[in-house]
Amino acid sequence: MKNKFYITTPIYYPNDKLHIGHSYTTVAADTIARNKKQRGYDVFFLTGLDEHGQKIERTAKKVGMEPKKYLDNIHEWIIDLWGLMDIKYDKFIRTTDDYHVKAVQDIFKTLYDKGEIYKSVYKGLYCTSCETFYTDRQVEDNKCPDCGKEIEIIEENAYFFRLSKYQDRLMKHIEENPGFILPVSRKNEMVNNFLKPGLEDLCVSRTTFSWGVPVEFDKGHVVYVWIDALSNYITALGYTSGDDKLFQKYWPADLHLMAKEIVRFHSIIWPAILMALGLPLPQTVFGHGWIVFDGKKMGKSTGNVVDPKILTARYGVDAIRYFLMREIVFGQDGNFSNEALIQRINSDLANDLGNLLSRAVGMVEKYFGGELPESNVELPLENEIKNYCLNTVLKVEACFDKYELNDGIGEIWSLVRRMNKFTDEMSPWVLVKDESKKAELAKTLYILAESLRVISVLISSFMPNTPKEVQKQLNITDENILTWESIKQFGLLGKKVSITKGGVIFPRLDLKKEIDELVLLNAETQKNTMAKKTAKFSLPEISIEEFAKIEIKTGEIIACEKIEGSDKLLKSQVKIGEEVKQIVSGIAKHYQPEGLIGTKVAVVTNLKPVKLRGVLSEGMVLAASNDKGELKLVTVDMDSGAVIK
Ligand code: ME8
Ligand code: MG
Repeated sequence: MKNKFYITTPIYYPNDKLHIGHSYTTVAADTIARNKKQRGYDVFFLTGLDEHGQKIERTAKKVGMEPKKYLDNIHEWIIDLWGLMDIKYDKFIRTTDDYHVKAVQDIFKTLYDKGEIYKSVYKGLYCTSCETFYTDRQVEDNKCPDCGKEIEIIEENAYFFRLSKYQDRLMKHIEENPGFILPVSRKNEMVNNFLKPGLEDLCVSRTTFSWGVPVEFDKGHVVYVWIDALSNYITALGYTSGDDKLFQKYWPADLHLMAKEIVRFHSIIWPAILMALGLPLPQTVFGHGWIVFDGKKMGKSTGNVVDPKILTARYGVDAIRYFLMREIVFGQDGNFSNEALIQRINSDLANDLGNLLSRAVGMVEKYFGGELPESNVELPLENEIKNYCLNTVLKVEACFDKYELNDGIGEIWSLVRRMNKFTDEMSPWVLVKDESKKAELAKTLYILAESLRVISVLISSFMPNTPKEVQKQLNITDENILTWESIKQFGLLGKKVSITKGGVIFPRLDLKKEIDELVLLNAETQKNTMAKKTAKFSLPEISIEEFAKIEIKTGEIIACEKIEGSDKLLKSQVKIGEEVKQIVSGIAKHYQPEGLIGTKVAVVTNLKPVKLRGVLSEGMVLAASNDKGELKLVTVDMDSGAVIK
């Protein structure tokens, strides 16, 4: 019988599109799930959406849609995202799914019948943005301690869960199971900040809005969204449904993965509910850190949204997954920067791994016409390399078991670098000059090829596509030598290695050019979301004084050309009265540069100059665009230099 492994991500709020922070948890979970599968576990990987609550209700209203319709749109976008990022979940749950709603009602009723939930009056502080209640102690200046938004005071009839009753049992469980909350710093935080000061009963129903799971036996109440959401981990397995085979097989979860801000819900509230239901507790609640961007938590509220679809389309999913898992210490906060991303791609992927493959394959081709002869000679370094490979496999396993993902990938890269060093030590380009060294040369290249087999299997849970390319170039088709178990042996690659030279797996990028392009792309996404939002709603009002700060004049395009290396940008010289300004605009997909000469346009002339793709832009040419992607310049039939107001 295989060991089972049940792993979950949080179910995300679809109140906006997901950003690279959400991708971080999901990629990490997918990486762990793939590694466990490779190592023979029977894995179940769950992710999904948390679709109820006042926040969603309000967001849908804001965009003028029925909540379900709004959610369906976002759901589609997210399924597409996980497809692009090669996330292989076993189930995707939506809390609006019928079976989930029904199961949550059953759970609520069971807890009520058992006396674990009772009715009373709630008066207190609530943050709608975080869907979280706070005590007076936690709130300062009427602001949410987590997101900083305004706190609301609510008073209503409500149901309460006897959370306080579980204080001692929780404390005991946490102390007796050191692996229950990881990393240890989070465990200490939970114990010191929440358990030791004492738990209060938790309000678990609301009456002031309706977008939630109705309490069956008391109409007008909906189940608190966190009870609804946390239950997903068991309802997804069919808990309380007629068919609970999956629940019997996979519960308790082996790993609930999330970022630190919701560890409290998963390591205190959720276990208490499970205790109240008489169910076993999850093995581990792991709270990783935040991806920060210029020091701030990335998220909808800070505006630092980095669109994972854009990054994936541009650099490929393997590069993005590699970066996320490599750059950030798993468990700690880590900075996301475009620069670090490009540098990692260049140094680790193009240089270290890309070079190792292209050197190995290139030399087999150049020195042996693509096919290595059998060689039985023993090289002095052979044993060391062999042990290095085998030890790396064991170290990576250990890292996975401790959820030290960045260390795991680091171990693999030490091996990649060791193999590049081995190549230099053996200097095949010197051996080839001496006919008597032919056997040594062949053996050297065999060892390189064999190490690449091991490396391709090691990286496959992090990077699902690159291994296939490596294996294709090495002509490895036998699945038996691509299993995890198989890389615990060195030398399984057939004695006669033949190769099929392929392309460069990771081309080197021009750092400066990429950074410029990324800034532009991000600005465009921001503009697009703004445009979408303003299509239905207006921006906030501004005063006439604020408007008067914008200088708009007529201008005539007197020269225009493409910007090299960009398919979006045109550089125009625009005559505005006596003056000529250089302006870069993203209109190349809509206009031919020659055709624009002589066009009289509306120009924002007092915009702070910026560099786009390294080219100075001293203003903005106004254009109208719609959500069909059409764009037309705003043209004005008047000599240049006239003021538009
Ligand atoms: O909290 N860095 O949903 P949510 C790292 N619906 N991870 C990040 C991140 C960042 N900057 N931003 C988001 C909810 N995440 C609830 C969960 S579970 C029963 C209900 C990831 O959409 C991280 O995993 O706010 C974090 O815990 C999660 O997204 C929060 O997603
Ligand atoms: Mg959140």
